[in-house]
Amino acid sequence: SGPRVAELVASRVLDVPDFPKPGVMFKDLMPLFADGEVFRQVVDGIVAYHGRDAFDAVVGIEARGFVVAAAIAYAAGVGVVPVRKAGKLPRPAYSASYALEYGEATLEVHEDAFTAGHRVLVVDDVLATGGTAEATLDLVERAGGTVAGFTVLLELGFLGGRERLAPRPVHALLSV
Ligand code: PRP
Repeated sequence: SGPRVAELVASRVLDVPDFPKPGVMFKDLMPLFADGEVFRQVVDGIVAYHGRDAFDAVVGIEARGFVVAAAIAYAAGVGVVPVRKAGKLPRPAYSASYALEYGEATLEVHEDAFTAGHRVLVVDDVLATGGTAEATLDLVERAGGTVAGFTVLLELGFLGGRERLAPRPVHALLSV
């Protein structure tokens, strides 16, 4: 089902030039989220790839990762843990910062987000430079989770995110 799911993703991604700034080609997956049949097949494909008994929790990365993570968690019968941008979580949290082209960004997770030893599937919509994912995987481990996998719907291979995350495995439904 790998090539078929990749084709489904390809059929539901819109290229938006010059967003959020000139020279950037934004990959908009909202058409995929909006197509109930495609969304279901994509979510089921991710669960099947990892195996529904291979993880005990799902992490979603703000904001589009939340959409995917909640659906995967529901399909597998496990809980979902949000990794949020700085300042959004109400209780004590771990923080991880990473460099952006200009400045830096910070992500956070509640200190008590994971049961010790829980296997955590981390999901997001897009892997670009890998800064977001690297910070998130670090947070999961600091909070006591064991990373069971990292999956994105779409990988922008030319930006080197996969290499940045090595040797951790990256699963992408579609790589461009
Ligand atoms: C996008 C995307 C990933 C991240 C990938 O999120 O959803 O989380 O960028 O980029 P990277 O691999 O270069 O770190 P964004 O920061 O736009 O947040 P949003 O979903 O809240 O808009």
